[in-house]
Amino acid sequence: MVDSDKILNGSRVGGEIQTEVADQVEQLAQKGVSPRLDVILVGEDPASKVYVGSKARTSEKLGMRSQTHVLPASISQDELEARVDGLNDDPDVDGILVQLPLPAGLDPQPVLGRLDPAKDVDGFHPENVGLLQKGFPRLVPCTPAGVMELLQRESIELQGRRAVVVGRSDIVGKPMAMLLLHAHATVTLCHSRTRDLAAVTREADILIAAVGVQGLIGAEHVSEGTVVVDVGMHRITDQELVDRYFPGNEKKAAVFEKRGAVLAGDVDFTQVAPIASRITPVPGGVGPLTIAMLMANTVRAARLRRSI
Ligand code: GUN
Repeated sequence: MVDSDKILNGSRVGGEIQTEVADQVEQLAQKGVSPRLDVILVGEDPASKVYVGSKARTSEKLGMRSQTHVLPASISQDELEARVDGLNDDPDVDGILVQLPLPAGLDPQPVLGRLDPAKDVDGFHPENVGLLQKGFPRLVPCTPAGVMELLQRESIELQGRRAVVVGRSDIVGKPMAMLLLHAHATVTLCHSRTRDLAAVTREADILIAAVGVQGLIGAEHVSEGTVVVDVGMHRITDQELVDRYFPGNEKKAAVFEKRGAVLAGDVDFTQVAPIASRITPVPGGVGPLTIAMLMANTVRAARLRRSI
């Protein structure tokens, strides 16, 4: 068993953020403002459907309004962009999120570039990306923003320390590196072509795994005392993999028995947790922070648009 003091509990911190957001929603209600988040889901990707459902439910739980627009995978690029235009022009909409990935044949970049940057609660529009890069963050991508909240609220020192980010996506890796840099960490951004990845990650004081490969980060990647944040989220449906990654873990075995699947991250938790000083679990780590920050961004967008 891993000492519970070691666990960076994203569920708890995400819950704190949600409570703060609900308070802000109440304050806005007194001014006659009720933030509204609109989510566009294109196609039938099962994981995306789960994420979108959870975004809508959480918005409503916190007292916000939410609309989900489910569009067929057969929609054309022009039609999709026209739907974005419609939400941009609707003064009742505060936040717009286009769930990614889009089905094959649709190019996400023109869609994200079409969003009204003031409603871009994902922080993916080039204007928001540029503002973050320049050090004037406005709407910041939810997952890296959530990781920063976790590190700050758990008093993890960043200034002058070595942070290594594995994964260079627009959604997590790049904005994560930028946020850590602005917090005065010394940042290394690794990716699939990094030579001797383990030698680089072993230098980390803070290691962020956002690479999208289950179990990639093992004992050989981590030095004693490293803070490890696991952004990965994978469903394991194979008994052999459950036994390999979670040997003797009765809790995971019970979940697998009940649901036929368990969740795991980019980090091999069983190997890495004894070496790390702090570590996020999967589930219950970064996931709840992402959704909490989406809610925070929606309130922020509602405020910014009205200058209140
Ligand atoms: N797909 C996976 N993560 C995200 C995210 O943060 N935002 C959107 N829009 N799609 C995603």
